[in-house]
Amino acid sequence: MGDMTFAGLLRTRDGSTFLNPALMAPNAFAIDIDPALVAELAPIAEETKAMDSQGGRYALSNGVQLANVRPPHWRSDICWLSHADENAFAWFEGLYDRIGLAETVAPFVPHDRKVTLYAGFFVTRSRCEALDMHCDWVTEDNQAFTLMAPLTANGSQLGMTYNTIRGETRQHDYEIGKGLVFGPKFLHSTAVGQLDERAVFLCFNFGTDRMDNWEKIGATTAQQCDLLRQPDGSFTSQAAWRQAYGSKALY
Ligand SMILES: [Fe+2]
Repeated sequence: MGDMTFAGLLRTRDGSTFLNPALMAPNAFAIDIDPALVAELAPIAEETKAMDSQGGRYALSNGVQLANVRPPHWRSDICWLSHADENAFAWFEGLYDRIGLAETVAPFVPHDRKVTLYAGFFVTRSRCEALDMHCDWVTEDNQAFTLMAPLTANGSQLGMTYNTIRGETRQHDYEIGKGLVFGPKFLHSTAVGQLDERAVFLCFNFGTDRMDNWEKIGATTAQQCDLLRQPDGSFTSQAAWRQAYGSKALY
């Protein structure tokens, strides 16, 4: 156990992982999201609520093309709407840069030049029937992170269930204007519940720009989108990723 650092996080071991005493959980912390950004994305979030067909391709009114993946084994109606092409990826990357996520997690992520965006999403869901506790990332250190930031007010009504380091189950209530950033060993699930309409979240997968752990990292991202950017900056498809690394299912 080391010293108190950014946002009151306690660094562990060599400093690449940490404990959040407020959450009593590893490798997770809350960040502020600029209200102007949330306001700008509000009409776009509204549009995504109707984009709910598995495998569907959609265009936002700003021209950004999205592709929908609905993992069939999840006990919820979750939709992962990701960039359908490199233009759309660039649009998501603009949001990623504005939030400053690369700089925020840089102290924790082993990397050479810049903490890299792998994929951007709108995640939407209105119900979850059962917990599906999982860690997004299975690397030893903090090579990759997820951001979940609510874009609709009802995001606070269907939150996240997570485990503390003591194995207790707690609820995290999402709050508009805040985002939750979490890495490996953070055990969580969509909370069980039901809303009148879909809650919409901005979500990013991002992390190291080294290819060393891409087999493990990509196993998460490749399940949720068709096009993904690799740590070295090149793009690949889900099919090509599976061909290269196998079809290891994380969830
Ligand atoms: Fe997750």
